[in-house]
Amino acid sequence: MAKKEIRVALIGSGLMGRTHSNGYKRIGDFFPELEYRPVLQAVCSRNEEKVKAFAEQWGYASYETDWRRIIERDDIDAVDICTPNDTHAEIALAAAAAGKMILCEKPLARTLEEAKSMVDAIEKAGVKNTVWYNYRRVPAVTLAKQIVDSGKLGRIFHYRANFLQDWTISPDVPQGGAATWRLDVDAAGSGVTGDLLAHCIDTAMWINGGIKDVSAVTETFIKERVHSGSGEVKKVGIDDACIFHCHFDNGSLGLFESTRYARGHKALYTFEINGEHASIRWDLHDLNRLEYFDHSDESIVRGWRSILVTDSDQPYMKRWWIPGTSIGYEHSFIHQAADFFESLQTGEPCSPTFKDAYETQKVCEAVLDSAASKSWKDTGVEWEG
Ligand SMILES: NC(=O)c1ccc[n+]([C@@H]2O[C@H](COP(=O)([O-])OP(=O)(O)OC[C@H]3O[C@@H](n4cnc5c(N)ncnc54)[C@H](O)[C@@H]3O)[C@@H](O)[C@H]2O)c1
Repeated sequence: MAKKEIRVALIGSGLMGRTHSNGYKRIGDFFPELEYRPVLQAVCSRNEEKVKAFAEQWGYASYETDWRRIIERDDIDAVDICTPNDTHAEIALAAAAAGKMILCEKPLARTLEEAKSMVDAIEKAGVKNTVWYNYRRVPAVTLAKQIVDSGKLGRIFHYRANFLQDWTISPDVPQGGAATWRLDVDAAGSGVTGDLLAHCIDTAMWINGGIKDVSAVTETFIKERVHSGSGEVKKVGIDDACIFHCHFDNGSLGLFESTRYARGHKALYTFEINGEHASIRWDLHDLNRLEYFDHSDESIVRGWRSILVTDSDQPYMKRWWIPGTSIGYEHSFIHQAADFFESLQTGEPCSPTFKDAYETQKVCEAVLDSAASKSWKDTGVEWEG
């Protein structure tokens, strides 16, 4: 049967531009039954030489250097926003007004206000949307959700997550500009809260339900850095580190920590869930494994099991190789791309939607408000996802 083509325009050709392009290119081979297929119609970023080279390397049919051209073009069905956070709202609002489907990188926006305008825009336009909180689609993480949903853990008492990095310890790392926009509050909106904890919060609410209230502390260890745009030394406005604790709607307690100052850790995203009958833990550095402790095991053999999530009856794995052989980081994006195209077929939302990501943004905003005011904050989250 002929496939229905969705002409995709990628805006931003950096790290995420590559992971998404790889996702689009591989779903035809590994999800052959999908009725819809992406066509790499255009890529956009500001440097002509670089975007032209990217288009040639990845097989995009055309390129642009101004994202507004992408919105104007009537040969684009879906816009994929892979640019720094300060551009998400403006591009999404324009894309929604033009009736285009939108896939947007996380965090949805810099602020709750921006995020709300984006939710309003996609609801008004009625366009299909998703946000790339890709860790949900790591098979071991999806399996963790299935195990919790099955009730095997019983009542949940604790949810604990860390996201630790070490790449900004040197005071010589600038803020702003191509590789270091994450340190510039105007471009990023916040530091580790929006960049890293947002992932932890999305996974946590997906698995364990809404976060009701938070108490947080943040720190900016290096107070001033050179701005690579102006060359001037400027105050650093982002949070370098953040720790918060919280109550979930289900009565469990949450504890979250993220920093870019944990020497020795590159991207140590971990979570652990402790329930009445069993516990689960996962670690991005060993992403095919899920550790599971079941208190109902006979006591002489009771202990943490290490489950290699590669069997064909485990999430997504029937798509790949044979039991015992691993997949990696890039597959989470391939899975999300496939789920998005499948959602066009089923008519179901492709979660996390803008609305789901807006709820995550509420938690991020409450965390930053709590740290600034040194007080507990209600999040106002209405979790449905
Ligand atoms: N889902 C994830 O795990 C994950 C991981 C990394 C980054 N992200 C998110 O993805 C987004 C992009 O991050 P990245 O690491 O790919 O950044 P990056 O710096 O590697 O790439 C950004 C790209 O956007 C382009 N760009 C910047 N401003 C633009 C503009 N006005 N118009 C057109 N192009 C423009 C740059 O030229 C570059 O190609 C951010 O929102 C980030 O938070 C998500």
